[in-house]
Amino acid sequence: MQGSGRLQGKVAFITGGARGQGRSHALTLAREGADIVALDIADQIDSVAYPMATPEDLQETVRLVEELGSRCLPIVADVRDIHAMDRAVKETVSELGRLDIAIANAGILHISAGEETLDEAAQRWGDALGVMLTGVYNTVRVVQQPMIDQGDGGSIVITSSTAGLSGMHDGSGGIGAYCASKHGVVGLMKGYAKLLGRYSIRVNTVHPMGVATPMVINEEFQRYHADHADVLEISPRLLPITLLDPQDVSNAILWLVSDEARAVTGIALPVDAGVTCG
Ligand SMILES: NC(=O)c1ccc[n+]([C@@H]2O[C@H](COP(=O)([O-])OP(=O)(O)OC[C@H]3O[C@@H](n4cnc5c(N)ncnc54)[C@H](O)[C@@H]3O)[C@@H](O)[C@H]2O)c1
Repeated sequence: MQGSGRLQGKVAFITGGARGQGRSHALTLAREGADIVALDIADQIDSVAYPMATPEDLQETVRLVEELGSRCLPIVADVRDIHAMDRAVKETVSELGRLDIAIANAGILHISAGEETLDEAAQRWGDALGVMLTGVYNTVRVVQQPMIDQGDGGSIVITSSTAGLSGMHDGSGGIGAYCASKHGVVGLMKGYAKLLGRYSIRVNTVHPMGVATPMVINEEFQRYHADHADVLEISPRLLPITLLDPQDVSNAILWLVSDEARAVTGIALPVDAGVTCG
């Protein structure tokens, strides 16, 4: 279904755009007329136990966005590499002419049950913080300048998690870093909201509960969940929703990036059936 064209003429830069929530955001924004940059590592990070996105996944995002009549620029880059991210933003502006919306969505989840060595803990900690805290910083750091130069504002949305509002731990380096980085981006968001508000650039976070994407729809996660349900359950849900559809998160993001939210900045928006309500 086509939208109302409320993002016509805008360009959205989405990290982790090859599949899952990133692809859903790309299609949702494209339906409203936006052109899309889908940036993804499209490769495996060794410490991650489930298969990450592939170049074919990234091409599929391009195909689906183009089917909706929008342009889609695929970029293979690692959000941990600030220079690669800077090149990606320059390519965006030279190919698509501008940059109005950025969605810092790339993420990984370490679901490695059992004992871990100190080396494994350090590796997972470093990889998770690298992608989900440094990677988010890198993204915001490089997208702000074209938005400032354009002079007509912008919108940045960072994907955190319910684990960015509540504690989650299984004792491992990866899950410790997941929770720490998802909390960390709230501080980053608030600081950037203050810094960039004068340019009408809005910065917000979204905090989804479990979402049906390949990050959790995989054999490793099913095994992990069977033994660690207590780790993953933050508190009872207020609504009878077990798992979100990626579209639930895309709908919240569409509102945040649209002019309907022009007065909204510096907020941490849960999309979580009420689990972080208290
Ligand atoms: N699925 C869930 O249950 C859930 C819940 C809350 C929050 N989140 C968060 O939502 C975001 C999107 O995850 P998803 O559910 O779509 O999972 P996903 O695994 O389907 O998608 C994540 C994407 O990020 C990409 N990526 C990972 N590391 C990268 C890097 N270094 N550079 C560039 N791209 C990289 C992956 O290749 C993949 O395409 C993540 O930040 C995740 O932490 C997920």
